[in-house]
Amino acid sequence: MRFALNEPITDWSRQRVWIVGASSGIGAALAQGLLQAGARVTLSARRQGELENIAAAHPAAAVVAFDVTDAQAWPQAMASALEHLGHIDLVVLGAARYDPCHSWEFDLDQVEKSFDLNVVSMYRGLSTIVPQLLRQGHGGIALIGSISAYTGLPRALVYGATKAALNHVAQTLYFELAPKGLAIYLINPGFVSTPMTAINEFEMPGLMTPSQAAAAIMSGFEKGRFEIRFPRGIAGLLRWLSRLPDRLRFPLLHKLTRM
Ligand SMILES: NC(=O)c1ccc[n+]([C@@H]2O[C@H](COP(=O)([O-])OP(=O)(O)OC[C@H]3O[C@@H](n4cnc5c(N)ncnc54)[C@H](OP(=O)(O)O)[C@@H]3O)[C@@H](O)[C@H]2O)c1
Repeated sequence: MRFALNEPITDWSRQRVWIVGASSGIGAALAQGLLQAGARVTLSARRQGELENIAAAHPAAAVVAFDVTDAQAWPQAMASALEHLGHIDLVVLGAARYDPCHSWEFDLDQVEKSFDLNVVSMYRGLSTIVPQLLRQGHGGIALIGSISAYTGLPRALVYGATKAALNHVAQTLYFELAPKGLAIYLINPGFVSTPMTAINEFEMPGLMTPSQAAAAIMSGFEKGRFEIRFPRGIAGLLRWLSRLPDRLRFPLLHKLTRM
């Protein structure tokens, strides 16, 4: 692949993958897609029963249930994942919450919970995972962000800000860790029909199914992308808008969002 920023993954049957946030939605669909493609997968999230339901059909799957907001739980969770996987070729970090709110109605408790789960827990995980991958001398880390990170959007005051933080974290990880032999991925999905977006009352442009999202993510890994964004239409449009001068971007966003 001519412009690959990471080594393209060509054979899933050789990959040992840890997915954190695998009990529903995109993480669950990705776990299923990877298992079907032959990867060995450890599934993590809090809901053990949901994880076990997914893992039951696949001999190459194992479950490690834990709460990512518990810093003490990460080393034990990784040790359990390593027991199953042997080493980690790829870890996908996707645990998050979504608290849509306007600038005039946000709740500080939700702000703290969102940043704690979506951002601080990412650092909790990285503090355990990065030293392990550096010890191994190889491996990849994929952070699930969102295309809402690209620009200010209605009701994205908190969620969009947490995902913008992750976009920044992923860039620094890539800058510093790619030269040390690690692969870093930033996954920026558009709207996907999952329990998370079930609360949205508006029509979600470009809405995808979780299995379509999983296929787009696997294709991004296979192409060695750094940023894996989808679907093409809405993701490309938002990215283009984010690069416009402010005086053009804000009126266009008002028009497009009818807000
Ligand atoms: N759906 C979309 O339109 C969309 C768009 C852009 C980005 N994303 C991102 O994609 C990722 C997956 O979201 P989704 O839409 O698939 O939503 P989802 O079905 O609600 O999945 C969220 C996952 O996070 C896990 N999780 C939440 N809190 C946790 C905690 N404290 N400890 C461990 N795991 C926890 C959940 O499992 P448990 O409840 O079992 O712990 C679940 O597996 C998220 O990062 C989300 O922000 C989604």
